Amino acid sequence: KVVAVIMVGGPTKGTRFRPLSFNTPKPLFPLAGQPMVHHPISACKRIPNLAQIFLIGFYEEKEFSLYVSSISNELRVPVRYLKEDKPHGSAGALYYFRDYILEDNPSHIFLLNCDVCCNFPLPDLLEAHRRYGGTGTLLVIKVSAESANQFGELVADPKTKELLHYTEKPETFVSDLINCGVYVFSTEIFSAIQDVSKHREDKANLRRVSSFEALHLAARNLPQDFVRLDQDILSPLAGKKQLYTYENMDFWEQIKAPGISLKCSALYLSQYRITAPHLLASGDGSRSAKIIGDVYVHPSAKVHPTAKIGPDVSISANVRVAAGVRLINCIILDDVEIKDNAVVMHSIIGWKSSLGKWSRVQAEGDCKAKLGVTILGEAVTVEDEIVITNSIVLPNKTLNVSVQDEIIL
Ligand code: GDD
Repeated sequence: KVVAVIMVGGPTKGTRFRPLSFNTPKPLFPLAGQPMVHHPISACKRIPNLAQIFLIGFYEEKEFSLYVSSISNELRVPVRYLKEDKPHGSAGALYYFRDYILEDNPSHIFLLNCDVCCNFPLPDLLEAHRRYGGTGTLLVIKVSAESANQFGELVADPKTKELLHYTEKPETFVSDLINCGVYVFSTEIFSAIQDVSKHREDKANLRRVSSFEALHLAARNLPQDFVRLDQDILSPLAGKKQLYTYENMDFWEQIKAPGISLKCSALYLSQYRITAPHLLASGDGSRSAKIIGDVYVHPSAKVHPTAKIGPDVSISANVRVAAGVRLINCIILDDVEIKDNAVVMHSIIGWKSSLGKWSRVQAEGDCKAKLGVTILGEAVTVEDEIVITNSIVLPNKTLNVSVQDEIIL
């Protein structure tokens, strides 16, 4: 049997995702019409002999209870949320819940970061891991040399694929091959994590000799049960024939800031062509709006037949789109109203917002640029004929003058 664990973090982790993470935990922010965490979960469903999926985080239980029960029913695989009392680090959290994770006697454990957008080639990763015969196999990908330092950089043996060297977010360039935050482990990983926290405990005990020194060191040292997968496990185990790499040739993005979610939403929409074509709007039928490219429309949304939508648009529950509206590359969240002839381009429109007649919400669309997308927080009102360009607007604002390149607090 196999189990999967998805690290969802907690409220202190999603702060860079503001203004979209004020009321919704980042892992539940919709990409291509489905919560962010839904994409790794449905990828897990493709693993043969999958017994359970665990989400581990330090958000309140109630934030995830509805989602977890509905997805368990839908996929017919038990999905459980396990709440940490405090952050334990990615490896520490796995270890903390080892009794739950090991209760089905799994031979392998998948570990996925929830804030990555990826094709998640999990069965291939497992097959490679079985071939290599190590403790763990990491999904890795080549990125541009300029962006590599935001991730774990690594060196792998070109023939055996063994992980030879690993450095987390190094200051000087090591390699353009990086850690995707997607792993499969054999159960020995638990002893490797235990060794790290045991070692910390020994060090802490030694330190009690001198209280002055202990005070000094405590500030620099991490709690014994806080174990980071990257620095504390991957770096020391590299080059010891225990860790291997499997290179992803398809798509991968990290989802830290809100702007990138537009690109990720588009990537998942295009993946639906293969994995879930029924989720894409067809535009067939005389009462449908004109649909261009990949578009998701929630069944409860009302879209006027004269609206023109796409490519790369996702429209959430209870959205109302009036006559003559044009939507391009955007995410429209629940309960938004878009009035006649408004235009939205390269933007994210927050829950319950309202866009007036002939208004425009737009950006250049370069999601790597600082303000390459426009983001409206929850319940923002844009009045008729107002134009909002390359801006971020915090929740509950009313905009009655046009703005450009601004952050409206
Ligand atoms: N439950 C729980 N508890 N989750 C956590 C904790 C914790 O204490 N700390 C982090 N996470 C979750 C985050 O929510 C995220 O999904 C994932 O674990 C990784 O977060 P970080 O540890 O903050 O690392 P990172 O995202 O900056 O970088 C990691 O991922 C990159 C790929 O996206 C590293 O492993 C990099 O090497 C890697 O390239």
